[in-house]
Amino acid sequence: MLWLVSILFTLSEINAYKYLVVNPLPVKSHSILGDALVDHLVDAGHEKLMADKNQRFDAVIAEWNYHDVYVGFAALFNCPLIWFSSVEPHWMVLQLIDEIPNPAYSTDMLTTDYTPPLTFNQRVVELYTQFFTRFIQIFYLSGLEHDVYNEYFAPFIRDRYNTVPPFEELRYNASLMLSNSHISMNIPIRLPANVITIGGYHIKPNIKPLPENLQKVMDKAKDGVIYFSMGTNLRSNHFPDQVKQDLLKMFGKLKQTVIWKFEEDLPNRPNNVHIVQWAPQQSILAHPNCLLFITHGGLLSTTETVHFGVPIIGIPVFADQYVNVGRAVKKGFAQRVDLSYSLAVDLEKAIRNVLFDSSYTTRIKELSAIYHDRTVPPAKELVHWAEQVVKTKGARHLRSPAFMMPWYQKMYLDLILVSLVVLLVLKYLDAQLCFA
Ligand SMILES: *[C@@H]1O[C@H](CO)[C@@H](O)[C@H](O)[C@H]1NC(C)=O
Repeated sequence: MLWLVSILFTLSEINAYKYLVVNPLPVKSHSILGDALVDHLVDAGHEKLMADKNQRFDAVIAEWNYHDVYVGFAALFNCPLIWFSSVEPHWMVLQLIDEIPNPAYSTDMLTTDYTPPLTFNQRVVELYTQFFTRFIQIFYLSGLEHDVYNEYFAPFIRDRYNTVPPFEELRYNASLMLSNSHISMNIPIRLPANVITIGGYHIKPNIKPLPENLQKVMDKAKDGVIYFSMGTNLRSNHFPDQVKQDLLKMFGKLKQTVIWKFEEDLPNRPNNVHIVQWAPQQSILAHPNCLLFITHGGLLSTTETVHFGVPIIGIPVFADQYVNVGRAVKKGFAQRVDLSYSLAVDLEKAIRNVLFDSSYTTRIKELSAIYHDRTVPPAKELVHWAEQVVKTKGARHLRSPAFMMPWYQKMYLDLILVSLVVLLVLKYLDAQLCFA
């Protein structure tokens, strides 16, 4: 696991907070999100410094990835913790700052692509998923987390303060959650006051101009451009030769220009097909001639497509891509095609559907308008709340009252108990009176 700590100094001396950003996944799409987060804070005049036992931080911003051990950083630096969640708020992160939401209408992020209203079977699957995952968390993961905390954090914390706060207390002590999501792309489940949605913050307001060759290709495409990229997970050498040839032949039949991001150039390439090893995705999507985006449906790509208002054909291959594409299909701006040996045939059908039926484009333009219609841009929101957490020493005013009471009180089990006792007493008195 890679702990990425950014070192950046700023010239400004006043009002600069020190944030430690913990970005655990050595995955390109995640580091894009982490880098952008750091960029915005640095742009706002704040510092970052290398983690060091003698170092001081005003807040820790840690990406949540199926464990909670980074809360140890907050204890080490004696500062507030801000969780960063790279996907829309789901029960596993919400339980850290509030309560587990009702599985009858809030779905698990990775296992299912259901959209409310759920059927009977889907509700059972969701309930089972929560129970099963909680079971693993409590009886397996939690032990590992305690081990990591005790081994890697506790000694340093003890060194500094002589006492070590219990891990379970830290686990439920985060100040805020920054969520890489937005209502235009999500299901509007209710959220606690300390969840701040900043989806789209990684897209800079000034899109870089296209390289000259691509600019020319896109400007000249009078029938529009189809942009095809499977991101960084699925590489060209994973494609069987026959599928590559079929795709080329199929693209060649279209009157649109195709820009295909692929690691290798292919022989017998039709004139309307351009293969690029590297593609400035945002700049391509921003071009007015871009009609359609064929994508794996990763969250960054789906966010960018909503940002720029381009309909998609989703070919999901990994993790949350199935959920994202399923969502996009339900929202009406996407068709889903599955990876298979008949990819070219299926893709051709989908391309014709999306291009001939204007509803896909209409729908994505509507969602894009909702996405852009915010009181402040997401980058501003991110900086504002990260600052507020520091200014208010942990934003306790946003803390959910759900943490103030034990579970049996929330479920009124104490009332049930009291009622039972009263009933029993009455019954007993009644029996005594009858005998009297
Ligand atoms: C919980 O967070 C608050 C605010 O950041 C902090 O003052 C408090 O010490 C934390 N509690 C523990 C046990 O670390």
